[in-house]
Amino acid sequence: MNTIPGLRIKNFELPYCIIQGGMGAGVSGTPLTRAVFRTGGLGVLSSAGLKDLYALRNKKPYTTYEAVREEIETAMADGYLVGINIMRILDESYDETIRAAIDAKVTAVFLGAGVPKLIADSGDTAQILIASSARTLNIILRRWRHRPDAVVLEGPMAGGHLGFHLEDVYKPEFALENILPEVLKVASENGNIPVIVAGGIYTHEDIIRFLEMGASGVQMATRFLATFESSATEEFKQQIVSSTEEDIIVVPSSPCGFPFRILRGSPAYLEMCQGTRHPKCRMGYVLGKDSEGRYTVCKAAPNNPLNKDYFCICDALRAAVGMAPSEPPMFTVGSNAYRIKKIISVAELMKELVEG
Ligand SMILES: Cc1cc2nc3c(=O)[nH]c(=O)nc-3n(C[C@H](O)[C@H](O)[C@H](O)COP(=O)(O)O)c2cc1C
Repeated sequence: MNTIPGLRIKNFELPYCIIQGGMGAGVSGTPLTRAVFRTGGLGVLSSAGLKDLYALRNKKPYTTYEAVREEIETAMADGYLVGINIMRILDESYDETIRAAIDAKVTAVFLGAGVPKLIADSGDTAQILIASSARTLNIILRRWRHRPDAVVLEGPMAGGHLGFHLEDVYKPEFALENILPEVLKVASENGNIPVIVAGGIYTHEDIIRFLEMGASGVQMATRFLATFESSATEEFKQQIVSSTEEDIIVVPSSPCGFPFRILRGSPAYLEMCQGTRHPKCRMGYVLGKDSEGRYTVCKAAPNNPLNKDYFCICDALRAAVGMAPSEPPMFTVGSNAYRIKKIISVAELMKELVEG
């Protein structure tokens, strides 16, 4: 196999089985997702922090519902297809985000970061689950009455938060190619659910290798982050271009409680290391479960006794797209970001991925 095939999930079909992973907060917006769709893949928006991004950009208050709906409708204008990434852990806005996404008739929702709730009737919208192991997939399949339309298996080399224990991130048994066979088995036993792989995929050859192992497609984020069309700031893009392998580290202590992969030179991280900054949560976006299983606990909240071990990243992530100019930014990337030597257009990137 040498050519990149198409992908069909539920009611949508793509010329190439390449999905651009959702990147919060605001990194994968309309310019990026539309460029990906024009060149044969599917772009995915991120719902993280959209309410505040819209309020800042348009200088008026927004509800989550209004911001999510407007973001999707803008991205889908003139018949474009688009997905949206929705994180379970953002409990405060979860139900409203799902409702807005379904009402806006988004092509697909990508549900991850926790055990997502079932959407009983999603109309034409495909429900795509993000999981990091066969075990999580099994748990979610047992809870859901319906099957997801596809699964994204995100391995430990991804950007953003990782669904792995810190000590497991670099163990060979958790490498994407080693966790894939078991996930493929669970997916085939549950009605042949297509499996899309993510995390560290960089070249045309990587894509072919995973397709030959049985994946139906790939989700890639870091390569799309380093394009003209992504909404990351110039400073963020330049740090990627000048980074070395040693600059990419995994830190344990964001409030989600999941390891988080970042560039060591992120200004927010440097300030935290120097002890000059230990930001506490202002918004309560990222909530963990309390002893009764309800999402009420922010580990970085000012009143949380555990908070000395956790820091708030919401403002720092918004600063990475220029939406919190007085804050030092935090730059999250995948493990292969150091291989990027220049910023290119989505069209150039897709040509390279498709043609090799
Ligand atoms: C800047 C950035 C932001 C991300 N934000 C999110 C997010 O908000 N939600 C999510 O589920 N995944 C997020 N991810 C993970 C990606 O969607 C994707 O699955 C992963 O990075 C794929 O690995 P790769 O970057 O090596 O291609 C993010 C990744 C990056 C690089």
